[in-house]
Amino acid sequence: MDKIVIKGGNRLTGSVKVGGAKNSSLPILAATLLAPGVSTIKNVPNLRDIGTMLKILSSLGARIKQNDNGEVAVDTSRVNKHIAPYELVSTMRASICVLGPLLARFGKADVSHPGGCVIGLRPIDLHIKGLRKLGARIAIEQGYVLAEAEELHGTDIFLGGPFGSTVLGTANVMMAATLAKGITTIENAACEPEIVDLAEFLNKMGARIRGAGTHMVRIEGVRELKPAEHRIIPDRIEAGTYMIAGAVAGDDVLIEGAVFEHIQALVDKLEEAGVGITKENSAIRIKAPEKLRAVDLTTMPYPGFPSDMQAQMMTLMLAADGISVISERIYPDRFMHVSELLRMGASIIREGARVIVKGGTALSGAPLMASDLRASAALVLAGLIANGETEISRVYHLDRGYERIDEKLSGLGADIHRIRE
Ligand code: EPU
Repeated sequence: MDKIVIKGGNRLTGSVKVGGAKNSSLPILAATLLAPGVSTIKNVPNLRDIGTMLKILSSLGARIKQNDNGEVAVDTSRVNKHIAPYELVSTMRASICVLGPLLARFGKADVSHPGGCVIGLRPIDLHIKGLRKLGARIAIEQGYVLAEAEELHGTDIFLGGPFGSTVLGTANVMMAATLAKGITTIENAACEPEIVDLAEFLNKMGARIRGAGTHMVRIEGVRELKPAEHRIIPDRIEAGTYMIAGAVAGDDVLIEGAVFEHIQALVDKLEEAGVGITKENSAIRIKAPEKLRAVDLTTMPYPGFPSDMQAQMMTLMLAADGISVISERIYPDRFMHVSELLRMGASIIREGARVIVKGGTALSGAPLMASDLRASAALVLAGLIANGETEISRVYHLDRGYERIDEKLSGLGADIHRIRE
């Protein structure tokens, strides 16, 4: 298993380019199942999770052609299976987004239940509720979600749970509803930019979706869809992670290809912390202040502060003067990074879904274990500012969602390298 070794203390300068969004690419690749033929998706990042989705599509009978420029052609004309097996789904929860497309096109889908993961309980009750409302019969048997429907029917669906809207639940119901008979409305739909990207791709395929990006999405079902070509939006979480790298360890860092409007909540918090941020065409310039200020934050569904940036922001707060309170409202147990940051000498107290961070104490490099994707990113950022050497093992967690993070940070001047094993 690879390791990443970082010697802290280097100041970062220069520019870094953001890749395509992982969380757009995954449902969009799944959506290619909705129409027979070759769909071409561009700007797909080269990540472990994307590899898993392509394996699932291949196992269903799709033919995949992928080039080095991030272009993936998916030929779904020979898809003849409807089972997403445990071996693949257990490695990536987002596999669940083949459920809606398979059900809509083939009237049948057996997808291994993804269960929870290291960031906590991750139920799929809302996905199931939405698909049932469209007319599917769904049973959970032997760890599989077994879904069937002769025909799906448009209807009004409220898609909200105790933690608000659901991103992949909205994606699944929206994809299934494109081929349902009649009109579907999804109230309390997720508004994330990745949902808008998916709706744009589906509309290119011939779907009739309006309102994506708002809480009310309206889908007029069509008889059939056709393959389409699409370019994935930039990854706002990757962009945000490099913004924080610039804020904690940078002199002047330019993040190229980031969409400013997708990360307003982060921009707002970074400005409150004293970070200089300038929007420059399709880039964002970050200037670190002399001293960062502590800020409080609460994660929320988009356009609120993203849960996917909570861990990285905790590292920033460790570098700031004062005390900050971080509340997690999406995944109350998403604090895997805390115990590793403590090993670096951080001063953090956890109380349930809230964490109190006392910033300003120097971190000390240490051997660390990557746990989940975003927690691992927080450890890399901590390594950049720690005294001495930090060695992060189980790097495959990072490779799920960050393309060449070691090379990109090294390009900015960080002392970071990967040991391949
Ligand atoms: N929830 C339910 N029932 C459901 C579905 C979700 O109660 O049926 C709850 C979840 O437990 C959670 C909240 O609703 O408390 C929101 O979960 P959501 O369904 O929106 O999460 P997701 O769609 O499974 C996506 C991203 C995650 C990101 C979350 C929240 C993808 C592939 N994944 O997951 O990204 O944290 O939205 O924004 O889009 C990551 O990239 O590292 C990652 C974990």
